[in-house]
Amino acid sequence: MCGIVGCILKDNNEEVAPILFDCISKLEYRGYDSIGLATYFNDKIHIKKDKGKILEVDKKLNLADMPGNFGIAHVRWATHGDPSKLNSHPHVDENNTVAVVHNGIIENYLEIKKQLIKEGHVFKSDTDTEVIPHLIQKYMDEGFDLEHSIRKTIEVIHGAYAIAAVSVNEPDKIVATRKDSPLIIGLGNEGYYLASDSPAILKYARDIIYPEKGEIVILDKTGVVVHDEFDNVVNKEIETINWTPEMAEKEGYDHFMIKEINEQAIAVKNTLTQKDNIQQIIDEIGDIKRICFVACGTSYHASLTGKYLLESLAGIPTDVILASEFKYSANTLDEDTLVIFISQSGETADSLKALDVANETSKTLGIVNVAGSSITRRAKYVIQTQAGPEIGVAATKTYVAQLTSIYLFVALLSNNQELLDELNKVPDYIAESLNDVEYIKSISKRYNFARDFFYLGRGYTYPTALEGALKLKEITYIHAEGYAAGELKHGPLALIDKNIPVVVVIPPGDNYRKTMSNLEEVKSRGAIVLAVGSSDDESLKAKANDVIAINSNVGEIIAPLVYVVPLQLISYYITLEKGYDPDKPKNLAKCVTVE
Ligand code: M6R
Repeated sequence: MCGIVGCILKDNNEEVAPILFDCISKLEYRGYDSIGLATYFNDKIHIKKDKGKILEVDKKLNLADMPGNFGIAHVRWATHGDPSKLNSHPHVDENNTVAVVHNGIIENYLEIKKQLIKEGHVFKSDTDTEVIPHLIQKYMDEGFDLEHSIRKTIEVIHGAYAIAAVSVNEPDKIVATRKDSPLIIGLGNEGYYLASDSPAILKYARDIIYPEKGEIVILDKTGVVVHDEFDNVVNKEIETINWTPEMAEKEGYDHFMIKEINEQAIAVKNTLTQKDNIQQIIDEIGDIKRICFVACGTSYHASLTGKYLLESLAGIPTDVILASEFKYSANTLDEDTLVIFISQSGETADSLKALDVANETSKTLGIVNVAGSSITRRAKYVIQTQAGPEIGVAATKTYVAQLTSIYLFVALLSNNQELLDELNKVPDYIAESLNDVEYIKSISKRYNFARDFFYLGRGYTYPTALEGALKLKEITYIHAEGYAAGELKHGPLALIDKNIPVVVVIPPGDNYRKTMSNLEEVKSRGAIVLAVGSSDDESLKAKANDVIAINSNVGEIIAPLVYVVPLQLISYYITLEKGYDPDKPKNLAKCVTVE
């Protein structure tokens, strides 16, 4: 989590701070505890940093006003040490000769710090990161250059990191490296860039190099050189990102989340273009006896929908495992198992750990939104969802794009033309579901009082209920639980009363009657029921307190792709009612690069 950027401009007379500030602002979704910039000018490292959101800190420090034509910057999501000015990056050694920004966790920092203190180093922060500039300085004092001091440093530190460093003893360059945390290098017209994620630099560079673990990248004003661990120059492939800078802007919307909710029809439409690629992957994979999904959070809910589809429509036994719990299931994998990793970012540490294990025994497939991310580089097969950059921390358009890929995969695997035809109608259904915004806004005002919610779904829409509850929890801070509608009576029904709204996801289909009985159960215990159901369902309108209507042609099999939209909108508008920022939920970051 945390975000890092760096830039060195070709023109010595240009100032880098406004560019660094612009780039790092684009990564605020990765961390918003604090921000800091370091530039080099006139034999000195200049630093401005503090805790707080970017705009607050900028108001105080005027971050774009710093001298120099190269530098580094950081946004923090605290792991070691409170959010505070001292704990903010960049961190320096005691002589201010080396400045470092870091994304990741140094697991053995305490023992390193102890040893460095014994050797006379003086520390100012509680962070794990601060050992890095001290180690680099120590090796530079021993006579190593910046590159080799970093090389020696990464021999000592354990954990996950993307690091960028500048030094007064070797000016006019930025040196960077990574292991298990993302890092991309951008080749632009005006200069060279590094970043944790592409939205940071889209405006300046779309030709990208992806450094691998342990490679050292040296950026100076003449270009970028990458060295492997034996100091050999590596000829890296340059890949061009097809996202535009505008795609990572709010484009007139109040928040990224609502912009991204509105982009869902197009995200599905664009992802449907992957049909031929998916067919090719299916052909290459060949026989599969079992499928195992591995994912976290929203991507886990997409996977769970995949299980319902694969088992009921393709007859393939399917498991869904939380990536952080994967190691307990790893020894059940074999070469006939396809392990599917679903991830928006492609950088989730829990998923990456599991992927490395799965690669040893099984065929692996990544369903990923971010091109060039670690999962796309490590999985044996890749389906690229076409949602465009997602900036809001709460996943929305990437979720429907993940679902679209899964539906396509299942439809092609089971030769289900009817399902393929239905999928082509989904963009229109989603667009139509967005017409009810005023009604959802008004409902949100009324439901905003609650401290707890239940979300119920059955069959294909049980994962939809889980996702609805997650969206509510993460941005409104209201406690919510998603439940299989039939399971409520086995315990949680005891909690139901007039203070707990129950959101019932009830599309037309085989499960309708049973779910309706569950709705009546909670209604008769006094719950307020908000239902999402078919527009022609008169008995639902008679029974529920409020009904959000979805096109009656959306049956239960494709319902997960459409019924989730009003659930996202409810969470969004309740968040606004409460006065919170839906794009930056507290304690959360977009990309979770720690285990
Ligand atoms: O990037 P990933 O899809 O691997 O991320 C997994 C979860 O961290 C993520 O889905 C998270 O639950 C969402 N931000 C929730 O909206």
